[in-house]
Order: sequence, then structure tokens, then C-alpha cells
Amino acid sequence: MTNKEIISRLYPVIKPYRGKLVLAVIGMIIVAGLQAAQAWIVKYVVDDIFVNKDETLLKLLPIALIVLFSVKGIFYFIYSYALEGVGQSVIRDLRDRIYVHIHSLSLNFFHKNSTGSLTSRIINDVALLQGAVSNALIRILKDAVSVVGLLVVVFYMDWRLATLSIVFLPLAFTPIVYFGRRFRKIGTDYQETLGETSGILHETIAGARIVKAFCMEHYERIRFGKKIDTIYDILMKDNWYRSVSHPLMEVIGGLAMALIIWFGGYQVLKGNSTPGSFMAFLTALIMLYEPIKGVSKINSTIQTGMAAANRIFTLLDIRSDIIEKEGADELPPFKDTIEFKDIDFFYNDEEPVLHNINLQVKKGEVLAVVGPSGSGKTTLSNLIPRFYDVHHGELLIDGKDTMDVTLKSLRKQIAIVTQQTILFNDTVYNNIAYGREGCSREEVEEAARVAYAIDFIQELPQGFDTIIGESGARLSGGERQRLSIARALLKDTPILVLDEATSSLDTESERQVQRALENLMQHRTTIVIAHRLSTIKNADRIIVLKDGKIVEEGTHDELLAQHGEYELLHKMQYID
Ligand SMILES: Nc1ncnc2c1ncn2[C@@H]1O[C@H](COP(=O)(O)OP(=O)(O)O)[C@@H](O)[C@H]1O
Ligand SMILES: [Mg+2]
Repeated sequence: MTNKEIISRLYPVIKPYRGKLVLAVIGMIIVAGLQAAQAWIVKYVVDDIFVNKDETLLKLLPIALIVLFSVKGIFYFIYSYALEGVGQSVIRDLRDRIYVHIHSLSLNFFHKNSTGSLTSRIINDVALLQGAVSNALIRILKDAVSVVGLLVVVFYMDWRLATLSIVFLPLAFTPIVYFGRRFRKIGTDYQETLGETSGILHETIAGARIVKAFCMEHYERIRFGKKIDTIYDILMKDNWYRSVSHPLMEVIGGLAMALIIWFGGYQVLKGNSTPGSFMAFLTALIMLYEPIKGVSKINSTIQTGMAAANRIFTLLDIRSDIIEKEGADELPPFKDTIEFKDIDFFYNDEEPVLHNINLQVKKGEVLAVVGPSGSGKTTLSNLIPRFYDVHHGELLIDGKDTMDVTLKSLRKQIAIVTQQTILFNDTVYNNIAYGREGCSREEVEEAARVAYAIDFIQELPQGFDTIIGESGARLSGGERQRLSIARALLKDTPILVLDEATSSLDTESERQVQRALENLMQHRTTIVIAHRLSTIKNADRIIVLKDGKIVEEGTHDELLAQHGEYELLHKMQYID
């Protein structure tokens, strides 16, 4: 995206707040103008009050000053408050928009983009963009107006001295730019290293168990040590530049001051200028320092902002690869068959992951899917809620192509329980009621009871109101799984997918989860991916997947009698 394109796309983002923005700009121009006036007044203070001893002016000037500062104060408030208001509104709008957009994208997108980078888009990039808009674009205007205003004062008061100063200005300007650049580079390096360091901290503290188990304390210490050494080096460099830049700037400032006093003083003594003009000149010159420093920073702020805007708009341009048809119908409640018809599917345009799948699941049936790891079992189950679209063939529910119905009406009918439980850092109650707003307390408790979760929930310090920690960290694997089951029970969908729901559990918790699952499966159509015999044996039908193809189909006994893949899996204790 070119800068021009980015700006043209920024405009609609800011447009709703253009009234406030205009207000801010007007306020800002007045503030900058009054700032110049402040310097101007110094001339009258010195010449008329101190030199000419004008008593009327002595009474008037303080009043004028009070008025000046009050007016400036009011306009500063208007400018600052309105500008920041626009900035915060833009931040809020963009964050909301990106968040909604991200959640409209398909799972495929989430596999390709890390959580960290997406979080950074919403949190950091949006702030950087806002910084560029309000700090850079608006403040540059303010600084520019201030510089012009003050320069007018400077030249009006003493054009000879002004010309002389302008000639020497680059001398003062160069170090400002030079150090500014250094500090920015250091800032970026620091942020990056700090990010990496907190990454290491997060991993090793959260994974302290693994670090201990593998005796990697020393290794991790070295890894962490390298990072903090880098941080030390960066900060010492920063320290050096800071310690050098301050006295250097002071010396340059002193030099400039000496020159100006010598030349300006000479002009006053010769009668070419008045003490007031000289003091006003000096005031304006000192006041010029801040806006000039601001202007020198602008380029990099704008550049970072533009880069952030580019990332944001690129993200917003990504279209979901799961698209709902225009005017798609609602899928009526499931009542008969789920049918896979000649389905081919691949993730990348290479080998198909699923090939020529033909399969029918009748209402009320329990279909078990077995097969070696990587054979495509999870992929198969992900096609039903349309997490991915098939590349060939059709997936029909009661004869209706899932491509033709709304995603919501489709997904509302399917509950999925996977090996990895997804729980939120919220109360037990809210985790179970997730997706079922407005259900009653009784319903939630009933779901927990049927999922054999009620006992452990009641033993938690605050029962249903206990916050379970990030990803349910305070619960055991089996407890987490039973919460997921309670959630699925409450969702009460006709179709159920169990993807190795018990495989990461020990025997004892597996038994409890298994009982909970049996309750969950009642009166539902279930596709169960499992490698435990207990689950599979009772299935109405079993299919064996191998390299993305259905190679065998039948009941447990039928398949064993075939002496084929199933028996092999069974013997290898893949199915135990
Ligand atoms: N998001 C993905 N992107 C690319 N390839 C994938 C993705 N998910 C799974 N695969 C690949 O597809 C194949 C089938 O995976 P999967 O359905 O998870 O197998 P199973 O559940 O039977 O172990 C594997 O080769 C796997 O590497
Ligand atoms: Mg799997």
C-alpha cells in the first residue's frame, strides 16, 4: 500500500469526528498565535515599564497578561481535549472493527497467524496509528504554526540578529536530529528485546515443570542471561547518549547564547535596537526550541504510524475463505442424515488430506472414526461445521448442502468436544453457560450434574462462582474435560463430535469423563474419534481412515473378522 492509499483509507476512519478535529485545529492555531504574542509582550515589559517607567502600562500589562494566559488556556484545553478525544474514538472504533473482523475469519486464518501478532495488531498498531494521526499530523501543524509565529517575532524584533541565528540554527539542529535518531533506534531495539525476554519468561515460568524435568535450569539461565545482557548493553548505550547529549546541547546552547548576547548587546548599545526588543527576541528564540524539536521527530512518528496502518488495513482486507451464500437459508433442525458425498479436501494445494469420502451417518447413530495419527480424522470432523470448505463433493445434512445454509444455523446444531479443552478465565458457571445466555441456574447445575462435574465444582472455594484461571489452570485435565462436556450438554445439539476427548487423561479421570460422555451421547447423533476400545466397541459402526481414505467400514466384530487395517491397529494397541 502506498502512503497515499493509506491516507485515503484513513479518512473514512476519522471522518465521523471531523467536527471535533476542526475545533482542535482552530484551538491549536489560536494557541500557537498567542504563544508568539507572549514573546511579543516581553518587549513592552522591558522597554516601557523598566526603561521608560510608564506607570499606566504597569497597570495594563499585568491585566493583559492574565487575559492572554486565560484565553490561551481555554483554547489549549479545547485543542487538547478535542484532539485526544478524536484519537481515542479512532482507537476504539478500529479495535472494535479489527476484533469483529478477525472473528469473521476462518480457522485457516488462525492457523496462519499467531495469537501474538493478532493481539499486537489490535493493541499496539492501533495505538501507533493514532499516535501518527494526532501526534504527528496535528501536532506538526501546531509546531509549524508556532515556529512561523515565533519566527515573525524574532525577525520583527531584530532582523540582523535573526539572520545570524538562522545561520547558526543548523548547528543546534544537527545534534537534535542526530540524537533523536539514535534514541529511536535504541527504543526499537529495546522494545524488541524486551518482547523476546518476556516470551522466554512466559514459556519457562509457565513451563517450569518441564524445565525441571529435563534439568534445563542452566540452559534456560544462559538463554535468559543473554537477553538481559543485551538489554543491559542497549540501556547502557542509551545511558551514554543521554549523558553526552545533555551537556553537549548545553554547551551549544551556551555558545549560541554568548554569540547572541554579544551581538545583540552590541546592537542595543549602539542604539540600533532596544533592550525590550532584545529580550523579546531571546524569549521567542528559546520558545522556538520545543516546536523545532517536535518537528524533527515527526518523520519517524509518521513512518511508524504508516507502517502500523498498513498492517491494520492489510488485515482488514483479508476475506474469510468460508463465505456464507447471499440469502442463505436457515438449516432446519437435524432429523435424518449427515452425508459426505465424493468429498476431496486439501489444506494446501498439494496432496489431498481427504480423498473420495463417501459416508452416511443416520440420526441417532454412533459412528466411530479410527485410523493412525495424521490420517485425517480431525479434518473430517471439521468439515461438518464448515470450519473448512470441501474442494470437491458435497456435505449434505438432511439432503441440504451445507454450503447453502447460514453458518449460524449449521453450527448451532453441532457440539464439539476435543482433546484440548477450551476454557476461559471466568467462573465455572460462565464457562458452562458459554453460548447459552439467559439459561437458568437450574439448567447449568443440571448440566454439571449429568457431566459428573457437580461434586468437584461444589468442592471449589466459591463453587460455581470460582474463577478457574487461564485455560482452566486450576482444574485437573479430567475436571476441565467434564466442564467442556457440561457446556456441550447445555448447548444441547442434535449432532455431537468427540475428537479424542479422553486421550490425554489418566485411567481414573478417563473413567469419569467416559461416563459423562455416555450421558452426553444419549439421544444424539455422534461422530466419535477415539483410540480407546471402550468407546469404539459400542459404536453402531466404525470406519477406518488411512491416508485420507476410508479403507474399512463395519462393526467391531465384523472388522476384526476381516483381518485388515482395523485388526492391525487393534494389535498394535493403537486401539487398546
Ligand atoms: N491446518 C492445517 N494446515 C495444513 N495441514 C494440516 C492442518 N491440519 C492438519 N493438517 C495435516 O492434515 C493431515 C491430517 O491431519 P488430521 O486431520 O489432524 O489427522 P488426525 O486427526 O487423523 O490425526 C496431517 O497430515 C496434518 O499434518
Ligand atoms: Mg486429530
